[in-house]
Amino acid sequence: MSWVHPAWLARLGRLERPGRPGRLGGDAGAVLRLDPGCGLGAEAYTISRAGGVTTVVAADEAGLMYGSFHALRLGDGDLAAETHAPAKARRVVQHWDNVFVHPVMGQVERGYSGGSVFWEDGALTGNLDRVGDYARLLASTGINLVSVNNVNVHAGEARLLTERIGEVAVLAERFRPYHIRVLLSVSFASPMVLGGLDTADPGDKRVRAWWAAAARRVYARIPDFGGFVVKADSEGQPGPYAYGRTHADGANMLAAALAPFGGEVYWRAFVYNHRQDWRDRSTDRARAAYEHFAPLDGQFADNVVVQVKHGPIDFQVREPVSPVLLGMPATRLAVELQATQEYTGQQRHLCYLPPLWTSVLSTVADHVDAVVTVSNVGEDAYWTGHPLAQANLYAAGRLAWDPALDPGAVLDEWISLTFPEAARETLHALMDRSWCVYEQYTAPLGVGFMVHPGDHYGPDVDGYEYSRWGTYHFADRDGVGVDRTRATGTGFTGQYPAPWRDEYESLATCPDELLLFFHHVPYRHVLRSGLTVIQHIYDTHFAGAAAVTAMRRRWAELAPELVGAELHERVRERLAEQERSAVEWRDQINTYFLRKSGVPDAHGRRIF
Ligand code: GCU
Repeated sequence: MSWVHPAWLARLGRLERPGRPGRLGGDAGAVLRLDPGCGLGAEAYTISRAGGVTTVVAADEAGLMYGSFHALRLGDGDLAAETHAPAKARRVVQHWDNVFVHPVMGQVERGYSGGSVFWEDGALTGNLDRVGDYARLLASTGINLVSVNNVNVHAGEARLLTERIGEVAVLAERFRPYHIRVLLSVSFASPMVLGGLDTADPGDKRVRAWWAAAARRVYARIPDFGGFVVKADSEGQPGPYAYGRTHADGANMLAAALAPFGGEVYWRAFVYNHRQDWRDRSTDRARAAYEHFAPLDGQFADNVVVQVKHGPIDFQVREPVSPVLLGMPATRLAVELQATQEYTGQQRHLCYLPPLWTSVLSTVADHVDAVVTVSNVGEDAYWTGHPLAQANLYAAGRLAWDPALDPGAVLDEWISLTFPEAARETLHALMDRSWCVYEQYTAPLGVGFMVHPGDHYGPDVDGYEYSRWGTYHFADRDGVGVDRTRATGTGFTGQYPAPWRDEYESLATCPDELLLFFHHVPYRHVLRSGLTVIQHIYDTHFAGAAAVTAMRRRWAELAPELVGAELHERVRERLAEQERSAVEWRDQINTYFLRKSGVPDAHGRRIF
C-alpha cells in the first residue's frame, strides 16, 4: 500500500484485507476493502458513502488505489454504490525525453516545461523523489504505463536497453508502487548499434536471437517491464524497409522477443516521406500511414499495438480522424494524442485540449486497445510550464480510463481539485473554450501548419509551403486548400469507410472546420455557415485575438491570493504572450489573405 500518501491518512481510515482487517490511521473516514472474491475485474472498484464513511471495494490493490483517488474527488454527502472499471486496460503516457541534451531538440524534444523529470544532461536524475511524486500524480489520473525516453532514439539513448538498463530499473521501482509499468523506446538498429552485428534484418536469425537475449536481460532487471515503443522508418529512424521487410515483420520480431515475458510492442504508424518535392502534387502525406499499414491488417502478432496519431498529418489544431484507426479491424490499435502543445501554443498559450481529444475518441474509442498521450511534463515547479496546462495531463488519464467523459466535467473536476471554489468560474470561463479560441486565430478551416518552421511557434504562412515536409496549403490568388477528393484530388477521401468517404468528398457535406483539409476552394466559396471562406478567415481571426484579450483581462480581475501570487503571475505573463502572439497571427493571416485574394473585409477592419 505504498501508494498511500501520508497526507491521506486522515481520510483513508481502515484497510481491510481478507482475514486481516486493519487501520491505516486517522479517523475512520474511509474503508478500503480488498476482496478478491468480490467479482470485480482488474483495476475496477466499487465506491459508496454513508454516514460520512466512504467504502471502496476492489479485487486487487490497483482497484483500491483508483477507488481511493476517486474518494478524493468526491464532494460531500452520501453516495449510493457505484462501480467503475477502466474502458481501456492500457492508459499510456509517453515522454519525448532525451538522456543527453540534443543540440537542436534539447533535453526534452518538443518539451515546454523545462528539463526532464527522468534525465539530466546524460545522467539519471538525482531527484528520484520527484519521480515518485510524478508517479502518484499520473496514477491519480488513471495512467498505468509510461515510456521514459524519446521515440527518436539517438546513439546514447539506445544504451538504455543494454548497459544502462539499471537506470530504467530505478525509475520502474518508483513507478511500481503506483501500479504503473515502464516502457522503453528502442532503436530498430540496436543489434548493429549495440550488438556489433552487421545487420538489423528481422529475417536474420542472429538478429532475432539478439533481441530475444536483450529482452531476457531487461526482464531479469525489471520483471514487470511493459515493453518497447518503436518509431521505425520515420523521419530518419531506422526500420525494416532497409531490408525489404514490412512493418509487420519488424514489429513481430520484437513481439516474439517480449512475448515470453508478457511484454508488448507499441509500434508507431507515423511513417511518411519527409523528403517530398513540393512541386509533386501526386504525393499526399495524409495518405501515407494508411498506405503503409492498412495492407498489413491481420499480420501483426497479438502483443503488437500499432500506435496511430489521431489525425493523418501531425497533431494540428484540427484534423479529421486518421483513417488507419478505422481501417485495421484485425489489428490492436492505440490512438496517440499530444498533451505537449507543439502545435497548440507550446504551453505559452492556454489551450485546453480535451474537446479536441473527445471529438476523436467519440469516433475511435471502440476501435482502440490503448490511449497514448505524449507528455507535457518537465522539471518545472508546476510540472507543465503553463500551470493550467496540467489540466491536459489530468484529462489524458481520465479520458483513457473513460473516453466518454465530458471534457467540461473533467475540467471542473480538475479545477475543484486544484483551486478554491471562488476561482472556479473564472478558470472554467478561461479554459473551456480555449481550444476553439486557439483555432480561431491560427491556420483556418483545417488547413493546418502555417507555423514557423523548426520550432513550430508563431505564424509563418508560407513557412512550409516550399519545403520537403508535405504540409502545404496551396493558397494562390483564387483560392486555398488541399484537394484530397477522389474526383479531382489526391484520393485521400477514399481511405475512409462510409459514411465519411462521401461526407468529406462532397463540398455540400464536408464540415466547415475541415473544408480546407479536403478541398481547394475559391475565396468566395460560401461555407455551410453562410459566410464566404475569406470572410470567415477575417472574422475568426479578429474574434480569436479579441477573445485572448478578454481572457487576459478576466485573469487580471481574479484576486491573486485565491490561486497564489506566484501562480497568478505565471499565468498573467503567459496570457500577455498569448495576446501578443494571437495579434501577430491575426495580422499575418489576414494580411496574407487580403493580399492574395484582393477581397476586402466586409466590415472594413484594419488589415495591413
Ligand atoms: C513531430 C515532431 C517531432 C517528433 C515527431 C514524432 O514531427 O515535430 O519532434 O519526433 O512528431 O511524433 O515522431
